[in-house]
Amino acid sequence: MLLYRLIAKENILYVPIASREFTTVESKKVCFDQKYARWSSNILVCWLYFDTFLVARAMKERIKKLQKEKDVAILAHYYVDGDVQEIADYVGDSFYLAKTATKLKNKTIIMAGVYFMGESIKILNPEKTVYMVDIYADCPMAHMITIKKIKEMREKYSDLSVVCYINSTAEIKAHCDVCITSSNALKIVSKLKEKNIFIVPDGNLASYIAKQVKNKNIILNEGYCCVHNLVHLENVKKLKEEYPNAKVLAHPECKEEILKLADYIGSTSGIIAEALKEGDEFIIVTERGIRFEIYKKAPNKKLHFADTLICRSMKKNTLEKIEKILTEGGDELKVDDEIAKKALIPLERMLELAGDWNESWKLRCGYNWFWSCSIDLCFDIRWQYKYMLNNKKEA
Ligand code: 13P
Ligand code: SF4
Repeated sequence: MLLYRLIAKENILYVPIASREFTTVESKKVCFDQKYARWSSNILVCWLYFDTFLVARAMKERIKKLQKEKDVAILAHYYVDGDVQEIADYVGDSFYLAKTATKLKNKTIIMAGVYFMGESIKILNPEKTVYMVDIYADCPMAHMITIKKIKEMREKYSDLSVVCYINSTAEIKAHCDVCITSSNALKIVSKLKEKNIFIVPDGNLASYIAKQVKNKNIILNEGYCCVHNLVHLENVKKLKEEYPNAKVLAHPECKEEILKLADYIGSTSGIIAEALKEGDEFIIVTERGIRFEIYKKAPNKKLHFADTLICRSMKKNTLEKIEKILTEGGDELKVDDEIAKKALIPLERMLELAGDWNESWKLRCGYNWFWSCSIDLCFDIRWQYKYMLNNKKEA
């Protein structure tokens, strides 16, 4: 595996000795296609790959077996390695993962992503055991706002809503009014009744929202994603010149100057959906992990990535670590009770305002309502029966 990762080439010939048509290893596209045969210098790499392919395949089989035996659900974000996405039961953007977790029957969840994702799942499902594949896989942006700053803003504006991007810590969420993700931010912010909206921690996402939701005073924070913030304007411009027919699909964590060049701006799942629509060539401005899902569904699409965007934290999620959790156990994710109680409020409000209250929480509430009505009815019938017997006796 290590040797393989040392190879700097972007495309790697995959000789036809294994059955899969393509896969991804770290950030590289590995494919079986005759047109790549001219890169004969890579053939040695392919034999190495074949070896690791067999090891990985055996490991995936063991994981799937263990997972079934232990009734564990594996959730993964689109930025983790293709191999991990492949064995996950649910793969999606951060909103999808948070809401999916509320619908699962499994008592244990393994989260392949970054810490705030597992933490949000634990807060929404305190009764479940949640393991991070790597407890140190953290999103640096989640820490780019302080409680002190939120308190200052609350003092400054009387009519203020503090909106926190789900990429934030539980402590921060506990001081906010509602959570958002890149897939529901516009919908939720437009629904808020307050005029002043302080969006934390991502300044780029906030400035994108400010451009779209014009009737609000959006207050920006200085946080940013250290991956998306790195995209070079020149690179995107160059790709646009080189591939004039390719649509530019960008994540709202990118800087404004990049978003100005985009034909579509959206969450990871939004970008994937857009790339799967008509058109066969796209310039993608987000983390490279999303290529796995696109190539899986449409292997012939041509994707040009603006920069080598790799989220190191997401890449800490590996098959080896998942297998270890399933065999030996792992570090269970814990959230302080008081903080969790407070952080649950903005997370639940997000589900409600994003329109998913119906699907998940209303189902739970409906279930509780059904049972409480049934119990009431039983008491009622019992009481009526007792009353009837008493009346009979008196008569
Ligand atoms: P999505 O909600 O679009 O998956 O984004 C999560 C993230 O961390 C992007 O950097
Ligand atoms: Fe955080 Fe950026 Fe990685 Fe997303 S890509 S998890 S925002 S560091």
